[in-house]
Amino acid sequence: MKRRIGILTSGGDCPGLNATIRGVARAAYEMFDAEIVGIMDGYRGLIEGEWQEMKRSQFSGILTLGGTILGTSRQPFRNMRVIGEDNVDKVAAMKKHYNEMKLDCLVCLGGNGTHKTANLLSEEGLNVIGLPKTIDNDIYGTDFTFGFHTAVDIATEVIDRIHTTAASHGRTMVIEIMGNKAGWLTLYAGLAGGADVVLLPEIPYDIKEVAKSVEQRAKNKKAFTIIAAAEGAMSKKEAKMKKKEREAFRAESGFNGIANRIAKELTDLVGVEARAVVPGHIQRGGSPSAYDRVLATQFGVHAAQLIAQEEYGVTVALVGNTITHNKLSEIAGVPKLVPADHQMVQVARDMGISFGD
Ligand code: F6P
Repeated sequence: MKRRIGILTSGGDCPGLNATIRGVARAAYEMFDAEIVGIMDGYRGLIEGEWQEMKRSQFSGILTLGGTILGTSRQPFRNMRVIGEDNVDKVAAMKKHYNEMKLDCLVCLGGNGTHKTANLLSEEGLNVIGLPKTIDNDIYGTDFTFGFHTAVDIATEVIDRIHTTAASHGRTMVIEIMGNKAGWLTLYAGLAGGADVVLLPEIPYDIKEVAKSVEQRAKNKKAFTIIAAAEGAMSKKEAKMKKKEREAFRAESGFNGIANRIAKELTDLVGVEARAVVPGHIQRGGSPSAYDRVLATQFGVHAAQLIAQEEYGVTVALVGNTITHNKLSEIAGVPKLVPADHQMVQVARDMGISFGD
């Protein structure tokens, strides 16, 4: 059996992309007569027709490598059917290049946006398989995405290191953790790092409640406070606003990000010495953790098994301890946010962690 497979990585990168590519490729070479085509920079390469025939040796030595050997780019789903100034019909171009490459299937590694376009291409008749990557862990139908646990490890280390300096100086430290819509990374790293306050996009906060936690700790002879704030965390007032209104409100406030803003507000309200820490893209960089290497390999092998069975229109998932797959049509466009009553939230509350609500 011969199969020609196109692979692309799309959207924000994360640790484990190369490990997953390697998993697909090695299993495919083992299981059947595979030819692999690497599509450059995600859907950009598919739209513009930029790809390369891959050699088996190119998949060697990449298990531990961060980033993606194929490159990536953000190609918003909302523009896919829009013909812009360049006059390119992107969907038609992607189908044309798929056919020119003589692919039997296309494997798309990516997050929510990538999966929406993967579903679109599947509806257009292409054979597509998705693989769920993102440090945000916000893809519906899978317990975990690859990249998430590595980011949790990195963000936790940031909190750990901030902890010691916060304690030495008796300061309030606000650490901004990636995640615009979903707070999974902040929730896990906050718990792992022993944060005192955790602020998530899904649970709007009241700054006065956050201030109360800082004051309460001071009363308990704890001179320092660690606040883990998701970059998309919002106040109760902001939560009532539409996205555009909220953005304008934030721009007016003049603060660059949630951590700076909360640090300033707490200084004004409680008079504490506060500092903001923004680890940013460090959370997405470098080598995947052992957990993510294993998950990426399991996911990649499952994708190769699906190709062998010619089962398309699906994305690979982890449910419980089992690697399985979901229909693209059922998961595309459904973000997995932290439910306010999630068990992990309750665990945190029972540990005395405040969500500022
Ligand atoms: O989706 C992953 C993520 O790192 C989010 O947590 C973050 O909001 C966003 O990407 C940042 O995007 P960019 O890399 O384009 O700045």
